[in-house]
Amino acid sequence: MKAKKDQANILVVDDSPETVELIKRNLESIGHQVYSANNVQSAVKFLGSMHVDLVITDLKMPGESGLELVRHVTENHKGIGVLVITGFPSIQGAVQSIKIGAEEYLVKPFTDDELFKSVDRALSRTSKQRKSSSKPAQQNFGIIGDSDGMQKVFKTIGKAKVTSATVLIKGESGTGKELVARALHYGGQSSAAPFVPVNCGGIPDSLLESELFGYVKGAFTGANETRAGFFQTADGGTIFLDEISNTSLAMQAKLLRVLQDKEFYMVGSKKSQKVNVKIVAATNVDLMQLVKKDLFREDLFYRLNIITIDLPPLRERDNDVLLLLDAFLEKYVRELGKGAMRFSPRALKTLTEYAWPGNVRELQNLVQRLVIMADESTIDIADLPGNFRFSASRMKGLNRTLDEVEREYIIDVLAANKNNISHAAKVLGIDRKTLREKIKGAGK
Ligand SMILES: Nc1ncnc2c1ncn2[C@@H]1O[C@H](COP(=O)(O)OP(=O)(O)OP(=O)(O)O)[C@@H](O)[C@H]1O
Ligand SMILES: [Mg+2]
Repeated sequence: MKAKKDQANILVVDDSPETVELIKRNLESIGHQVYSANNVQSAVKFLGSMHVDLVITDLKMPGESGLELVRHVTENHKGIGVLVITGFPSIQGAVQSIKIGAEEYLVKPFTDDELFKSVDRALSRTSKQRKSSSKPAQQNFGIIGDSDGMQKVFKTIGKAKVTSATVLIKGESGTGKELVARALHYGGQSSAAPFVPVNCGGIPDSLLESELFGYVKGAFTGANETRAGFFQTADGGTIFLDEISNTSLAMQAKLLRVLQDKEFYMVGSKKSQKVNVKIVAATNVDLMQLVKKDLFREDLFYRLNIITIDLPPLRERDNDVLLLLDAFLEKYVRELGKGAMRFSPRALKTLTEYAWPGNVRELQNLVQRLVIMADESTIDIADLPGNFRFSASRMKGLNRTLDEVEREYIIDVLAANKNNISHAAKVLGIDRKTLREKIKGAGK
């Protein structure tokens, strides 16, 4: 009766094994993946480690009430739907649970059909919610970001990708320049034609010319046949001149000619060639500074500088760090076939305060490493490399009092020692009693 493509992960929380079994059987028969917990505490734990679309919970259970679970989900797991099951006498509780955020309630005893309908409604509501609140990330060629700076970047990409004008991408190392270059190509009209990246800094100047423009047979010793260069290969598509600042002045003169006339000579040939390529260049140094020092041709700079895209460093992208952490965690967990993982709130705080000198690349590499190394489903401060745990995470401001610094340091040491007072006191070089007093003082 229901298509498998809508398969959802559903957690059933009920202390009655019969009810759990009944729901499980029914929902699995229509293709859902069903997990169960018999009390609120283990449900909360499960939610912290596993991706779930819908929680179905009883209200009356030994220990904490189902209402507490509803509250926990609405406060901590916004995208998850909640369906409350209740016996007839406690319908009041069901109404209350709707008030605090449950999507639906179902009164016992219910028929299979009532169960399916409620589950359907709750799921479609949460998927709608998720769609409307979904990050713009997905629509932006795999470039994740929601900060003002990145919104500006997306806007410019949107305009630049539909023209044939030259684009210059500026940004520190690891900010995503190549990703943007690809977006410009694959989002544009000639996406079926080749995208040809050229690392101008990685090819010796003597070879760059023949690599870029190709050569004819006999042009030099070893040129046994005529060979096309990057420009010919890119014909109809895009050539990406990465690290454009790393070209010699002689090379720049030749590039200028292609940019002006879309015309060039193969090495060893007197006949000019015409190509139709979109030129995208990238630099992580300020070209204008190089122009001033006569290391970069001014006329080439102006030819390149028609549409510019400025990629902000990650430390200036507000909440993008969180979005990126989330996205890369999910990616590597999936790729490495690990169970669901999360960052502890404290680890997240440290990571968002860090200055990220290596930008998105550094963040991506770190998350990959953490996922590979993790033994537990929660990544905590103790799992982060040393420079994150202490000084580097505090690099942002030089405006804290010594008391504050001490407090933060104590919190970090405690976290790194899994809140074991004796171990933490040893690391701090004080006795346990003093540490206890300091902790008490920190709570004020
Ligand atoms: N906004 C982003 N969303 C998702 N992934 C990103 C983003 N920005 C960068 N990345 C990823 O980070 C890595 C580095 O990006 P990229 O190679 O484009 O940076 P770059 O600016 O060209 O760096 P460099 O100057 O060192 O060459 C890549 O794996 C890329 O996919
Ligand atoms: Mg690059």
